[in-house]
Formats: sequence, structure tokens, C-alpha cells
Amino acid sequence: MTHDKKTILFVDDEESILEVASEYFLQKDYHVITAVNGKDALTVLENTEVDCCFTDINMPGMDGLELAEHIREIDMTIPVIVMTGYPSLENTINTLKNGVVDFLIKPVNLEQMELCVRRVLMQRKVFEDNLLLKKELDSKKRIEALNIELLGKVDELNNLNKIMNDFEQVTSSRELFIRVVELARDITHADESRLFIISPTQEKPFQVTASSAKGSISHPIEPAVEALVLEIVEDGIPLLVSQCTGVKDLPERILSAMAVPLKIRDKVFGVVTAFVEDGNYRFDEKDLYYLSFMGTKAADTAENIALYETISENLFSTLRAFVKAVEARDAYTKEHSNRVAEMAVALGREMGCSEEELNLLNFAGRLHDIGKIGIRDNILLKPGRLTDEEFEIIKEHPVIGAMIVSQLGLWDRETQIIRHHHERFDGSGYPDGLKGVAIPFLSRIMSVADAYDAMASDRAYRKKLDLEKVSSIIRDGSGAQFDPRVVDTFFKLVESGRWNFV
Ligand SMILES: [Fe+2]
Repeated sequence: MTHDKKTILFVDDEESILEVASEYFLQKDYHVITAVNGKDALTVLENTEVDCCFTDINMPGMDGLELAEHIREIDMTIPVIVMTGYPSLENTINTLKNGVVDFLIKPVNLEQMELCVRRVLMQRKVFEDNLLLKKELDSKKRIEALNIELLGKVDELNNLNKIMNDFEQVTSSRELFIRVVELARDITHADESRLFIISPTQEKPFQVTASSAKGSISHPIEPAVEALVLEIVEDGIPLLVSQCTGVKDLPERILSAMAVPLKIRDKVFGVVTAFVEDGNYRFDEKDLYYLSFMGTKAADTAENIALYETISENLFSTLRAFVKAVEARDAYTKEHSNRVAEMAVALGREMGCSEEELNLLNFAGRLHDIGKIGIRDNILLKPGRLTDEEFEIIKEHPVIGAMIVSQLGLWDRETQIIRHHHERFDGSGYPDGLKGVAIPFLSRIMSVADAYDAMASDRAYRKKLDLEKVSSIIRDGSGAQFDPRVVDTFFKLVESGRWNFV
């Protein structure tokens, strides 16, 4: 039988025994090391890999049992066989206690020793294999646990990302509040979520919006829920009540509850609640973490929106004042911008524009000629035909207007609409000579509305044109000055009587 050469350590203070055993086991193709006492044996064990150890029990200094104990500490898988001349029950018990796997009685029969070696080595292999298996199993379990943890982390990141992305796209407080309650339900598996605003002038929290698994919420706000909201306002700390039965007098329908504050600069201005009303799900710390994270992000977004809305509002008012000043210089263009905005919105609505686009049209419409503020009266108000040079100066107004509006970087899309409201569909317009769909869609709408109002109102140099004349100019301009789709929409509006020619 072939086997990897195994190393046996013999420890005995009788050197003759060591010699006999060495000779025998070397012949049997084992690797043999000998030691005359326990101390030497331990030195060997520290430097060499040993597969099995025979030791005498009675030795000066360290006896065989003590040595067995040390061996066990170094490597518990090394089988130790003790040899003794005086076997007793006590000895036997001690031997086994110390992890010794077998003992042989002196004088020892060499063949018996070899049989013993084979047996213990086989047992060691089984033991080692089992140990490996156990390790493998342990590591499998660890990997599984890590996987679960990792999946949890991925889930968490997804949720946090979702919150961030969702809020990034929000442009108004109203939209934000609706997203908050929807997200709260989505991420924490709540059946119902509400958002309350706290106002210094009102004693009771005011419910702004709510989202429920049942669709609509028919019941009024219970006093206990109101008290819960006020508690959050007072403490400013998120609250989790995993099991609600008998807690805080909450209504029976609420099985599990959470509430988090919305704060701007440490001041609570709102509270988001989430309730479980059905099934076995109960909120835990993780859900509270998500809801709190969402609360913080929502409050930040609310602050930004409020800031933006205020700045935006102020600036828009200022810019509108400029436009009014321009219009006031020319009695004939009074309210021109408002009328252009109105028609642009009507055209946009007919063409299926989103609410956001309609807002853009309204905003840009009211400011589209703001650039005229930089043009001298003698050119702007000239009753007769403009010279080429004068016309070149007039042509600067979309660029000046875009520059004014873009100053704060708040209105990129509005700026583009204003810059391009004098482009022509065939590419012969100004300032950039853009052609066809390269012109922003909303500018193409604005262009028709602008031209229409200019023709349909009195000017310093001419009376307003009649509808027939205006219609024919717009029709002729289809594909040249105007986008044919917008022209078609214009006629749809006029012919259906939804646009009154005044
Ligand atoms: Fe203009």
C-alpha cells in the first residue's frame, strides 16, 4: 500500500526503545523522529509537522500525560499514544482525558504499534475531513449571511437612491408633499401615510395630503393621531411604535405606527405619519430609518423649493415691471406680452403640452420682449419704416432678453424660448438662423402667437389688420415663417370659435 510518508515522533527516556522503534518504522517507510524527554519533543513539534506521537508515560521532568496536553494545545488533531509499563484504571482515565487516543502496554510489540499507528492515522484523517467539512459548512453559512446582509445593503441603497431621485425631480411644494406620502408607503410597506403641516397661527396640525392603500381616506383625523403629531412637533424626534395595541390610545385600526418630523433649520414645520392597518407586517428600526431619511431629504427639498419660489417670484415681478416699462413707452404695445402669453398657452394646450410646458409658455410669453428695454425710443417707437441699421438693432432684442432672464441661471428653458422667438421655420430668422425642429418647440408656438398679436392690434404705423388678412398672412407663413403644425392648430382654435378675434 502506498501512502504519503508519515512522520512519527517517539518520546522515551529509554534510548534502546527509541532505537528499536526507529529501525522498525523506518523499514516500514515512515519518517521517524525521536526525543528523550517531553521538552525535546515539544521543540520538535514546534519546528516539524508530525502525524502521530508515541510517548512513554513515566519520564523525568515532563511526563507523557503533560506532554499530551501540550501537544493538544499545539494541534488537537495529532494523535498521541502513550506507552506504559504499569497500566491502571486511573492512568487509563487520565490518558483519555488528555486527548490521548490510545495506550499500549510495555513491553510493546512492534507490529501492534504499527497497527495502532495505522488506526490512529486513519481516525485522524476522518477527524480532519470532518473538521474541513465543518469549516466549509461554517464558511458557507457565513457567505450566506454576508449575502443576505449585502442584499439588504443593496436594497437600502436602492431605497435611498429612490428617495433622492424622486425629490430631485420635484419642482413645487405641492408635488413634493404628494411624493412624500406615496414614497413613505412604497418604501416602508405602510398602508397609510399622511403629511401634516404645522402653522404658528393654527393650534391643530393641518393635513396637507395623504396616501392610502384603500385609495381614499374617509375617516376624520382621530384625536390620538393628532396628539401623536403634536408630540413629534414638541420633541422633534422620530417615533416608532411597532405594536400599537394599547399604546397611546391609538385607534384600533392602527396596528403599527411611525411618525417623523420635517425640519428646516431645527424648526419642525411638518410631520409625516405612516401606519400599518392590515396583515402581519410591523414596522421596525429599518423602516424608521427610511422614513427619517426621507423626512430629512423632503425638508431640504422643501426649503430649496421655498427659496427658489421666493427668489423666482421676486425676480419675475421685477422683470415684469421692466416689461411693463417697455410697453408703457409705446401705447400700442400695452398688454402685448400678456396677450402673447395667453395665446401661446392656448396653442400649447391644444397641441398637448404638459402643465410644465404651459407654465414655461406663460412665463416666457410675458417676458419675451424684455430685451427691448435696451433699444432706444427713436428706433423702437419709429412710426415709419426702419432702416437696415435700425432693424439690425431691433434684432438684438431676443439676445438681450435672454441675457437678462438667464442672469441667475434659474430659467434655462425660458431663456431659450425668449432667445429664439424670432427664428423662422425656414431658417431665415434671427438671432441664430435656426431651422425647423432645431428651433425650440415652445419658441415655434410663441412665434405664431407673437405675430398674430402684432397684426391683430393697432401699431404706431398702422391700424390693426382684419381677421381675414391676419389669417391669410399666417397661412402663407406656414412652413416659411411658422411651423405648419402650429399654424394648423391656430386655425383649429380660430375656426372652432375657441379663439375670439377681437
Ligand atoms: Fe419680439
